[in-house]
Amino acid sequence: AVERTLSIIKPDAVAKNVIGKIYSRFETNGLKIVAARMIHLSRQEAEGFYAVHKARPFFKDLVEFMISGPVMVQVLEGEGAIAKNRDLMGATDPKKAEAGTIRADFADSIDANAVHGSDAAETAAVEIAYFFPALNVYSR
Ligand code: CMP
Repeated sequence: AVERTLSIIKPDAVAKNVIGKIYSRFETNGLKIVAARMIHLSRQEAEGFYAVHKARPFFKDLVEFMISGPVMVQVLEGEGAIAKNRDLMGATDPKKAEAGTIRADFADSIDANAVHGSDAAETAAVEIAYFFPALNVYSR
């Protein structure tokens, strides 16, 4: 089915000036960018976005990292977009990511891991709504 998923290019990859290279991977693999915005997250916005991880030991470092610089946030649309984006990203820990994946090529550590992607249909809907009012999404 055609799906939408939320993607974030994290501060490390924005600082490395590889937004275009990452967008190119989405586009050449059948994912269309249907909404996008660059934003420097406030602490409150980052904590809200990652609220499901609040009890995890890595939460504080994750939030600090995500507010360390601007991020590029986009909605990707395409056949099986959620799983396809996760395949393109590779494993959360770049040391475990398969060669040729975004994280293998651009990430430095499990925190500075270049990209985020929604992990399931329910989280994709919540994450898209967090950053984009429906009226600002253009799929045609
Ligand atoms: P992301 O897909 O943005 O979702 C939560 C983030 O927490 C994850 O990518 C990692 O960057 C970060 N993180 C740090 N440590 C861990 C861990 N042990 N397990 C999962 N995610 C972690």
